[in-house]
Amino acid sequence: MTGTNPDGISSPALDLQRLPKHIAVIMDGNGRWAAARGLPRILGHRAGAEAVRRTAEACRELGISALTLYAFSWENWSRPSEEIGQLMDLLEEFLDREVETLRKNQIRLRAIGRLHELPPTVLAHLHDIMARTSQGDRMTMTLALSYGGRQEILDATRRIAQLVREGRVQPEAIDEALFSRHLYLPELPDPDLLIRTSGEQRISNFLLWQISYAELYVTPKFWPDFTKDDLYETIRAYQQRDRRFGRTTPADPAVASSGSTENGACG
Ligand code: IPE
Ligand code: IPE
Ligand code: MG
Repeated sequence: MTGTNPDGISSPALDLQRLPKHIAVIMDGNGRWAAARGLPRILGHRAGAEAVRRTAEACRELGISALTLYAFSWENWSRPSEEIGQLMDLLEEFLDREVETLRKNQIRLRAIGRLHELPPTVLAHLHDIMARTSQGDRMTMTLALSYGGRQEILDATRRIAQLVREGRVQPEAIDEALFSRHLYLPELPDPDLLIRTSGEQRISNFLLWQISYAELYVTPKFWPDFTKDDLYETIRAYQQRDRRFGRTTPADPAVASSGSTENGACG
C-alpha cells in the first residue's frame, strides 16, 4: 500500500510500508557551507544543528524507528582545539534546547562512541538528557560522539578477549551474534540506509560493522542545506533498490530485515 504524503511531500508518494527502519547519516559539509558564505566554520555547525532538528522531525513524522547521526568522529579530535571547543559548546546548547521537544515527541536520545573522552560537562549533559528521554518509544535518535568504527570494533574485541580470559566465552562460540552483542548499542538494528552529504564518497570510519548491507546514498548538498524533501528523496531512492543480501533475487523485505538484524538483539 502506498501511504499518503506527510506534510506536502511531492510525488511520487513514499511507500509507508517499506520505510527503512534505521537511517544513519554522515552529516558532512558544515565548514564548506560556511566558507561559501564567508562565515566562520562554527556558523556552519550551527546551521547544521538546524538540519538535525529538521531531519529528526521528518523521521519521527514518517515513523522511522531509528536515526543515527555522526556528530563527532574519533578523528575529529585532531581538529584545532578552538573548533573542538566550539563544537562541544554547541552540543551542550543543542541538548539543552531540544530536550523538551524530544520528550514531547517520545524520542529517546542515545549516544555511541568513546563517550568517556568527552569533556565532563558535556558528558554530564548527555547522561542527563539520555535519562530524561529514556521513556521515549517512538524513535531512537543516536548521536555518534568521539565515535570511530574501528575503535568500536576494538572495544568489542577487548571485552570479548576479557571474557575468554575469564573462561566465560569459548573462542569457538565467537560468531556474528556474539560479536554484535558487544558493540556500543547492540539493540539497534543495522542501518538500512546510510546517507552522506557534501558529495564525499567515503565512510570516514562510521559504523563499519553495522553497514555491511546498508544502502548508500550520497548527496552533493552540504549538511546545513539538507531539507525534509531531501530526506524523502533518499527514501524514495532506497525504495527503488533491490536488496539482495547476496542472493540472486531481491529478498523478501521481511526476510531481509530479519537477516540484517541477525544479531538477535534488536527487540
Ligand atoms: C561536518 O562538517 C561536521 C563535523 C565533522 C563535526 P565538517 O566540519 O566536516 O565540514 P567540512 O567537511 O569541512 O565542510
Ligand atoms: C565525518 O566527516 C565525520 C562527521 C560527519 C562527524 P569528516 O569531515 O570528519 O570526514 P573526512 O575527514 O572528510 O573523511
Ligand atoms: Mg567534513
